[in-house]
Amino acid sequence: MAFAITQTCCNDATCVSVCPVNCIHPTPGERDFGSTEMLYIDPKACIDCGACADACPVDAVFPVDRLTEDQREYAEINAAYFEQDETRAVPDADTDLGPVFHAWGRPVFDRVLPPDFGPLRVAIVGTGPAGMYAAKDLLLHTPAEVTLIDRLPVAGGLVRFGVAPDHPATRKVSETFAHVHAHPRVRTHLGLEVGTHITAEELAAHHDAVIYAVGAATDRRLGIPGEDRPGSISATTFVAWYNGHPEVAPDAVDLSAERVVVVGNGNVALDAARILVSDPETLAGTEIAAHALRELRRSKVREVVLLARRGPEHAAYTRPELLALKHLSGVDLLIDDHDPRIGPAVDTAGPRDKAAVLRGVPRESLDWSVSPDAAGGRRRIVLRFHSAPLEVCGDDATRAVRVTGASGEVEIPAGTVLRAIGYRGVPQAGLPFDEAGGTVPHERGRVTGRPGTYVVGWIKRGPSGGIGANRACAAETVGTLLADAVAGTLPAPSAGAKAFHRLARRRRRG
Ligand SMILES: Cc1cc2nc3c(=O)[nH]c(=O)nc-3n(C[C@H](O)[C@H](O)[C@H](O)COP(=O)(O)OP(=O)(O)OC[C@H]3O[C@@H](n4cnc5c(N)ncnc54)[C@H](O)[C@@H]3O)c2cc1C
Ligand SMILES: NC(=O)c1ccc[n+]([C@@H]2O[C@H](COP(=O)([O-])OP(=O)(O)OC[C@H]3O[C@@H](n4cnc5c(N)ncnc54)[C@H](OP(=O)(O)O)[C@@H]3O)[C@@H](O)[C@H]2O)c1
Ligand code: SF4
Ligand code: SF4
Repeated sequence: MAFAITQTCCNDATCVSVCPVNCIHPTPGERDFGSTEMLYIDPKACIDCGACADACPVDAVFPVDRLTEDQREYAEINAAYFEQDETRAVPDADTDLGPVFHAWGRPVFDRVLPPDFGPLRVAIVGTGPAGMYAAKDLLLHTPAEVTLIDRLPVAGGLVRFGVAPDHPATRKVSETFAHVHAHPRVRTHLGLEVGTHITAEELAAHHDAVIYAVGAATDRRLGIPGEDRPGSISATTFVAWYNGHPEVAPDAVDLSAERVVVVGNGNVALDAARILVSDPETLAGTEIAAHALRELRRSKVREVVLLARRGPEHAAYTRPELLALKHLSGVDLLIDDHDPRIGPAVDTAGPRDKAAVLRGVPRESLDWSVSPDAAGGRRRIVLRFHSAPLEVCGDDATRAVRVTGASGEVEIPAGTVLRAIGYRGVPQAGLPFDEAGGTVPHERGRVTGRPGTYVVGWIKRGPSGGIGANRACAAETVGTLLADAVAGTLPAPSAGAKAFHRLARRRRRG
């Protein structure tokens, strides 16, 4: 009986390194790595040793015979990956001191450094996954000393203030990162903002290199009338609110309306929808903020409509997250069958196509003039595809969203609109910025025109990819940094570590 990887997999490939028979794919050396929704175990090759389950930081791996009813489909999802064509096994080329990639299989993230490689002092700005994977890489493979900095008083980035509280296994990845903070070659400064308390130049002057892992702090804009009307809020705010972010007020969210429209159907939209319709008692005991639990307990929300401008075959969510929604207790999932393209897209989808997950989900042409209560007592999530928002309607409060539809424009009555259309990076003082992508321009992680300065994570790649995707991203950036160190192109620091830590403490207080 084999093991199978399930919903919480964040693609960090930790399991790949421990599997004795190399049956977990794609590995970081394979072409598919970074583009699949999760990693998969080949049931024909697995020898059932359990090493992957022990190593997984987010409890995603289970023996197939112990999968719960809700997890059963993962056995097939794992097996199906190995029925694809063989071309996915093509290895990448090796890189300058970067990760050494091997053909079909061997674990990667090794480094080969010259024997006389001296200690570097590296500052990492941001303690989210990208910063922590970069720190781990440096600490594991070099004698570097690392200064970790975060503007917030709590470390973790989106693992702490983004990942949903009903995903405790995923949040457990922070335990892996906690070891980094405790490492003897690491100093952490929380509540210290680069660009406010300390300048980019001061940071650079005290370190051999600086890695910016500052994420994507703000939200994308819809650019439609009424977007800023009271009752229309960004998912960035909603997510930060239920996670107790120190900069979001406890009363930032009002759940007195019966219907909420969520614009977008990425995983953040799904997180928001799930939290809105879940039985609040299932959230009690999680790390959800106390103010959010109070508001959810008195919430009037009966229905959440997920608005997607494209069809089910192009949905932005991942299959594991949609599967979880299908199994949410006490909640009905429904497709608004308003467009003739929806049915065929679902019915003709191949077994590995995203739209196939919607098979069995009821489809109904909905009458939006009926209030959610009249449409049924249970809470429900409605997936409305092929429908773009045109306006958030109302006066001093949100009343409805006007959207496109197959038979013309429709107004969907809603008291709250959540814009879950993606995050966006913000300019960093002292660094170039690409306005179009909301990222910092770079070459393999080295900031363009700024020797000794690097980027990693969402500020480098843009706001997409799960936690584990930042591991390979960090491997590339650290590889570039180490190659620059070996080539002697890092600018020499003009002040020492002790001076920096004194400065940081003074500025934080002041
Ligand atoms: C709502 C949400 C839920 C998610 N859930 C999951 C999930 O369940 N599973 C999964 O695999 N992936 C999930 N992801 C994706 C995952 O969180 C990201 O891939 C990851 O957090 C990006 O890492 P990062 O380090 O680039 O950015 P972040 O995690 O955002 O970290 C950036 C850090 O930089 C700090 N910072 C910013 N500017 C400064 C400054 N000037 N000075 C000092 N510090 C600064 C910030 O305070 C922050 O701590 C989720 C994403 C979101 C938005
Ligand atoms: N559990 C998890 O594993 C988890 C949880 C949360 C987040 N994450 C990850 O974090 C990353 C970010 O997630 P995300 O949901 O913020 O972003 P996302 O996956 O990029 O989804 C953004 C959604 O917004 C839509 N959109 C964008 N602009 C729009 C517009 N102008 N009008 C209407 N719709 C618009 C997109 O539609 P189009 O597709 O048509 O552009 C898409 O549906 C993803 O990689 C995600 O997988 C993972
Ligand atoms: S989270 Fe990491 S260790 Fe766990 S199954 Fe996924 S890739 Fe493997
Ligand atoms: S149980 Fe053992 S053999 Fe099977 S995938 Fe996990 S580590 Fe590999």
